[in-house]
Amino acid sequence: MSLKDNPLGFDTVRLSDDGRRVIIIDQTLLPGELKEISLSSKDEIYEAIYLLKVRGAPAIGVAAAYGIYVLADQIDTQSYDEFIKQFKEDKEYLNSSRPTAVNLSWALERMYKVCTDNHAKPVDEIKKLLKDEACKIQEEDIEISKKIGEYGLELVNKGDGILTHCNAGQLATSRYGTATAPIYLGYEKGYDFKVYADETRPLLQGARLTAWELNRAGVDVTLLCDNMSAALMKEGRVNAVFVGCDRVAANGDVANKIGTSVVATVAARYNIPFYVCAPTSTIDMNTSCGDDIEIELRPQSEVTQMWYKKRMAPDNIKVYNPAFDVTDNELVSAIITEKGIARAPYDISLREIMK
Ligand code: MRU
Repeated sequence: MSLKDNPLGFDTVRLSDDGRRVIIIDQTLLPGELKEISLSSKDEIYEAIYLLKVRGAPAIGVAAAYGIYVLADQIDTQSYDEFIKQFKEDKEYLNSSRPTAVNLSWALERMYKVCTDNHAKPVDEIKKLLKDEACKIQEEDIEISKKIGEYGLELVNKGDGILTHCNAGQLATSRYGTATAPIYLGYEKGYDFKVYADETRPLLQGARLTAWELNRAGVDVTLLCDNMSAALMKEGRVNAVFVGCDRVAANGDVANKIGTSVVATVAARYNIPFYVCAPTSTIDMNTSCGDDIEIELRPQSEVTQMWYKKRMAPDNIKVYNPAFDVTDNELVSAIITEKGIARAPYDISLREIMK
């Protein structure tokens, strides 16, 4: 059982052929325009992550890995001390672009370790190893999504209605997505899922991205406003919820796009399984519970006017705009990783998976 190679025909993130630029699909232009842009300066890379031109936890990690390699390649010195000083500065700058998705710091730390493990080698050699590591992070990400797809498909049946929130699709990863991987695999195998995509206010990742990519792949997908999930579940049209995540704490609390915990709460009310798809790079055993996860606060304008032709809220209104919420572990039916499916008690099952 395996997914076909790149069913959507684009790469969310890649390294340019000359290795000097990070090429990403600019996700802020979708669904209107499928356009690649290239990034080579630290400000361009930072801004692309902060403005969600590249977004979704695994894709942010891959972009950061390629990004720090591209920046390292620009450091003009043969002295390891000078090289690592600049590398650290660049790493910390990129790491400050978004706080919640742990894949960002995970990928940057993995790249940093390549430098420190090889400090005795010439700088040019370290640069080559950094490029190899960044490519490896992306290759692994593709394989991880495939495995999540296989494990996730075991949990659903032909003809099921599946609800998803935000975009944990190919656009959020290197390929296939996490929450969408079982959907793409099921599609290839004739499962005839009916997929419901929450629009995902305020930045509309569900409407602009999930609905777009599933529709493009030929999957039966219906777009919902964020406040419709209870009605749909009450009507019996949802058999399972699949979502991605930005950070899983050691106790199984899960940070994902704002609104996820509402869906989980409603799903529990209607006895519908709520599944979280998480590469192990998103599991943070150093964070004991959801209260310890830093939740990104974003500009008010995203709620009041972005995506509207004109402002849709009173001037000077107070706005609260956290980008993520935490779903308590007791609402999570299972966490699907590339290494298997974790179930409660999560402190034990996640520790086993992360061994
Ligand atoms: O703010 P975003 O669009 O980066 O938020 C993305 C999500 O919340 C995704 O569900 C999560 O990163 C998982 S992506 C496989």
